[in-house]
Formats: sequence, structure tokens, C-alpha cells
Amino acid sequence: MNVENIRLINFRNYYNVNVNFNKNINIFIGKNAQGKTNLLEAIHMCSVGKSFRTNKDKEIINFEKDEAYIGINIKTNRYDKFVELKLNKEKSKIIRINKIEINNLKELDTGLSVVVFSPDDLKLVKDGPNERRSFLDQSISQIKPVYNYNINRYNKILFQRNNLLKSCRLNRKQVSLLDVFDVQISKIGTSIVLERHRFIDELYKNCKEIHNKLTLNKENLFMKYHSNIPILSTKEEVEKQYFNILKKNINGDIENGTTQLGPHRDDILFYINGKEVKTYGSQGQQRTLVLTLKLSEVDLIKNEISTYPVVLLDDVFSELDDERRKYLTKYFNEMQVFITATDAVDIGTIENYNKSIYFIENGKIYKRS
Ligand SMILES: Nc1ncnc2c1ncn2[C@@H]1O[C@H](COP(=O)(O)OP(=O)(O)OP(=O)(O)O)[C@@H](O)[C@H]1O
Ligand SMILES: [Mg+2]
Repeated sequence: MNVENIRLINFRNYYNVNVNFNKNINIFIGKNAQGKTNLLEAIHMCSVGKSFRTNKDKEIINFEKDEAYIGINIKTNRYDKFVELKLNKEKSKIIRINKIEINNLKELDTGLSVVVFSPDDLKLVKDGPNERRSFLDQSISQIKPVYNYNINRYNKILFQRNNLLKSCRLNRKQVSLLDVFDVQISKIGTSIVLERHRFIDELYKNCKEIHNKLTLNKENLFMKYHSNIPILSTKEEVEKQYFNILKKNINGDIENGTTQLGPHRDDILFYINGKEVKTYGSQGQQRTLVLTLKLSEVDLIKNEISTYPVVLLDDVFSELDDERRKYLTKYFNEMQVFITATDAVDIGTIENYNKSIYFIENGKIYKRS
């Protein structure tokens, strides 16, 4: 799978660019604040329909303009796709695939899978559960577009339920109205919980292997999905139990004006040699775990769709030590990679690869001849 080219109009600091990419390795060099991450953001947006940096499309449109456009051509050995996004400050965005407009997120299957590595990924280990849930949600959506649709629906219904909980505080009679939401929430929530559980099982198997290699068998990784909805043997049982949990907690929920249990409160726990990484892991152990997770995500996507995703390395390649870099570049043979850096990249490990080098300066991209 590879992105053949990109066209950007009024996208952040890019007014009008058109660039063709190398099928294998693309290196972008530029000083701070020139547009490196913006370019990767645009590519990623064509995969999932939204930014990895913000939920507000408005922020993406150039400060001085009202509309922005991204267009990319994707090629795999099975299909070619032309994905277009049109953003407008006043209206919701339009997504077109091969010129056909997508009206429903459920139908959003852009045919482009992307995995981003960025310095922010450390948050995945260090910060609160929010970061880990978005990692889960983004990763699973790449494999199952319907999951993304379920997450959006879950959040919508949760929002409505929480509003109703607040009005129940003033008028207890409204409690009976919660039933409608609880039936829907336990149904959609169950599919989310089960899907995440399955994903983490697979992820763990794969991560264990990668982590062993990266640490030369010195560290033993363990991870588990921490859910406040119990995982039972059938979907129906989980759903029933979930519904009962909502009912049991209703007084607490009303008192707090919010739904206290459900997948929006779940987490992933990581342990190295029996100790939780978030609390006891060294900086180096945390970095290695992040690299393990990301590489594993790459593998899972490859297994699922039989082709490697496109990999975006924002400012991380230069930071890796030799061992890690060698391990990472083994993957590069078979995939398209975008690497950004502020200084010339040490290309020792990728010397023999097919690659193009570009310079980014103030929203313009120049290919090195
Ligand atoms: N909506 C927008 N309109 C115009 N410019 C914008 C918009 N949003 C962000 N920018 C500008 O884009 C510039 C480049 O951002 P980007 O994050 O791509 O930099 P970078 O090259 O990755 O830098 P660094 O090396 O510091 O990470 C910034 O100067 C920022 O002000
Ligand atoms: Mg950047």
C-alpha cells in the first residue's frame, strides 16, 4: 500500500502544494514550525477522516481562508483510490472516495491504513487512561470501520444519558426514561468491550515477541485490558450483565450526574517483570514499550489486510538508538515510510533502500534532485 501523491490547498500553512512520493522511503527535512507534522497530519486524515491532533476541523483550515482541501491517490495491488477531503469553516466536511461522496462514517473505508509514531506517543504509557483508549479506538478502527461507527454512537447516547441523569436529579419521575438508553448502551457498549478485549489479546501475543527481541529477552512484558464490564462467555451474557450494572448504579449515576461505568472508563495495564510500567518503568523502558506497541499495531494491520500500512515517523527516527533503529528498518523493505527530521537524517541503516529526500520550508516542499 502506498500514497502516490498529495494535493493540499489552504491546509494549515500549505497554500497550494502538489507532491509525488516515493513508493518506499520519503524523508522530509525542515526546521521547526515549517510544516513537517502538518504534512503527516494531512496524510493521516485521508485514512480515518479526522486529525490526530485536533477534533476541530476549523483549526486545520489556513488562518486566512474559509476552505481547505486534501486529495491523495492510494495504490495497492488490489485497488486504486482517490480520497478527497473538503473542509469548510461554516459547514461540516465532505469526504469523497473515487469522486463519490460518503454520507455516513460507517461507509468510510478509505482503503488507506496508517500508523503514526510521534514523540507524543510516550503519553500512551505515562498519561491517564484517555490516551490508551484513543490508541485502542484508533487502532481497531483501522481494522474494522464499523468499530469507529459504534464508538461515535456510544458517545452520542452516553451524552444523552448523562443529560437525562442530570434532569433526574431535579425530577425523579424521569428515571423510567433511562431504560431506552440503557438498552442501547449495553448493546453497543458490549460490542466495544468485546472488540477491545479481542484486540488486546492479539496485541499482547505480538507485543510479547517484539518486546523480547528489542530487550534481548531481558524483560518480560505483560498487558491486560482493564474493564469494569465483566467479560463473560457469550455476547448475550455480557449485554445482560452490563444492563444490570447500569441499573444497580443508577442512584450513584444520578447523584454524580454522569455514567460511572462502561468502556469510556476502561484502561490497558502494562507490566514489565511484574511491575506496572506507568509507575515503576524507567524512561528507556517506557520508550521501548511504546515502540513495541506501535510495531505490533503495524503487524496486526498487516495480518488483517495482507499488506503493510503506511508508516509515519514524526521526529522519532533520529531519536532511536542503533539497535532499535536497525530493528525498525527491517520493516522498511516492504512498506512506504514517511520520516521527518529537523536535521539531516543519519541514513546509515537505510543506505540501500529506495528513497527520496525533500526539504520543507514555510509551507513549501522541495524535492532534492
Ligand atoms: N490553520 C493554520 N493556518 C496557518 N498556519 C497554521 C495553521 N495551523 C498551524 N499552522 C502553522 O503551521 C506551522 C508548522 O506546523 P508543523 O507542526 O507542521 O511544524 P513542524 O515542521 O512539524 O515543526 P516542529 O519541528 O517544531 O515539530 C506552524 O508555524 C503553525 O503556526
Ligand atoms: Mg512537528
